[in-house]
Amino acid sequence: MRLDKFLSQQLSISRTIVGRELRAAKVTVNGEIIKKGAYQLLPEDKVCYDGNVIKQISGFRYFMLNKPVGYVCSTDDPDYPTINYFIDEPVSHKLHAAGRLDLDTTGLVLLTDDGQWSHRITSPRHHCDKTYVVSVQDALSVSLIDAFSIGIMLHNEKKPTKPAKLEILNKHTARLTISEGRYHQVKRMFAAVGNHVTSLHRERIGRIELDHVLEPGQYRPLTKDEIDWVYRNTNKNNA
Ligand code: URA
Repeated sequence: MRLDKFLSQQLSISRTIVGRELRAAKVTVNGEIIKKGAYQLLPEDKVCYDGNVIKQISGFRYFMLNKPVGYVCSTDDPDYPTINYFIDEPVSHKLHAAGRLDLDTTGLVLLTDDGQWSHRITSPRHHCDKTYVVSVQDALSVSLIDAFSIGIMLHNEKKPTKPAKLEILNKHTARLTISEGRYHQVKRMFAAVGNHVTSLHRERIGRIELDHVLEPGQYRPLTKDEIDWVYRNTNKNNA
């Protein structure tokens, strides 16, 4: 890749400004000042800008975050801090959440810059299960297990929800697995049966489980098995 393109991407500045910085002798490659934007970088080259190393990123990146309450899953928000606050990685603004959680929902968020991979998780065509632990205001009735497994009509929607698995853990808490990701789906499913979600935590996406060692706000890279699972196991007929 050209040096000016690389710097423009990594520093989120225009090529014009990159050109100015290069001419001002602020950029070195392997310790040598380089002023030409057309300089071709090799993957092993060490690039420094103003004395700071600019890491070359090769390939896509994949992380899991334990999202705390009070953060939004978008890259920018006028009112609330975003989950990017926790991600200490170069050009973290290029990472996006593969399936967002609400401001007040906690737990597993997968972050990546691989759009095809995240599409496998979020697209309803790929049937990727998501599992939540849900606390509700009114006592849970066993009749909900059947109602959710058949599918229920959500307010303002034309089609019922796809079959969902409800496991009642105690009077006010259940584990719910859904394969879609409609807007506020879990909260709306309980609202449709006259109940109210008081807390919501995502513990699993497909076979990828929230790592128990991660405290709220902590993250880690996904393992190769976790990354590959998404490509191997999301509905192959729709690949
Ligand atoms: N369903 C919801 O209602 N909220 C979430 O954050 C995730 C699923």
